[in-house]
Amino acid sequence: MAQPYHINDTTSYHRDHLDTLGWELTVCNALEGAENPCRGIIHNPASFGELLIDFLAGLIPMEQLRHFIEIGGGYGYVMRDLLARYPDTRASMLDLSPLLLERQRTTLAGMPVQFYHDDFFYYDSNFYAGFDLVLMNEIIGDFATACDVDPAVIYAVTPACSDPTLSNIRRIVSTYGFALPKEPFNFNIGAIQAVEKLCSSRVRFAYLSEHSCEASVQDDLKEILQVSGPGNPERIPLRGHDEYTIKFSYLEQVARSFGYRTARGQYKEFIAPVRSGKLNFILTSNSQKDEHEIIRQFVEDLYKYEYLVLMRD
Ligand SMILES: C[S@@+](CC[C@H](N)C(=O)[O-])C[C@H]1O[C@@H](n2cnc3c(N)ncnc32)[C@H](O)[C@@H]1O
Repeated sequence: MAQPYHINDTTSYHRDHLDTLGWELTVCNALEGAENPCRGIIHNPASFGELLIDFLAGLIPMEQLRHFIEIGGGYGYVMRDLLARYPDTRASMLDLSPLLLERQRTTLAGMPVQFYHDDFFYYDSNFYAGFDLVLMNEIIGDFATACDVDPAVIYAVTPACSDPTLSNIRRIVSTYGFALPKEPFNFNIGAIQAVEKLCSSRVRFAYLSEHSCEASVQDDLKEILQVSGPGNPERIPLRGHDEYTIKFSYLEQVARSFGYRTARGQYKEFIAPVRSGKLNFILTSNSQKDEHEIIRQFVEDLYKYEYLVLMRD
């Protein structure tokens, strides 16, 4: 019988093959550098890390935190900005990619950071319990996704099922009361298990962000900006690997069932674009100029990316 799903896994890409983040321009990297054109179209032309810290400080008592960890820190820019703002905080960085760890060591040279070359899933919840804040910016889309899962098979799984992935999906669906679609669907099993791990650790605060499959444009840009929000995680083909967009409503449901308060929204809430004639032109003209293409992608990302903050009282 054909397998009723397949797994998208990026582990070996990140551990053995990744040689640049240039092909998957993260919003953090898109805002790096004072002269960056993306900074020219937002209200507060600062780095991603500075904007994120200002935003988190409105939700979390950042100045009280003693030890934070970032998972998958890319080029290390968010941690650089955090340590610049809160130099007395202890910091740890965990990443699967040896190449990116080297980049992080360069960016963070002279800063008191403990580095871990590991997979997020290598550690159990006791490890994450040792931190006040876990940061996961644009990484959970890299975690395993079960693709083209047949819902009939999930409902038919019994305790005797020998396939651990199917059993796990069944466990998650019944534990959190997820209503499955009738059609084959993609399931962010890695991202959901990551939230379970964080919540079981009882870490006080966690921040996650990623491309969402539930995005929409509801403000004054809705006539001219299109972002997809099908509700089913979408495949994003990238160099050497694929990622999947995230169904944030499931992650939120998991966190709440562990007793966490949540704040959920879109990047545009803390990286607000300025409505101007220039931006209007860039979004509507279909201009092929490099700078305009970059800004168009950037503005779409401000709506396509969601954040989720988990808070324990
Ligand atoms: C798309 S990059 C995002 C980088 C950075 N956070 C940013 O926003 O620019 C994903 C990061 O997660 C790391 N990563 C991917 N899977 C991981 C895993 N299972 N455990 C630890 N790090 C992982 C990658 O090596 C990379 O640093």
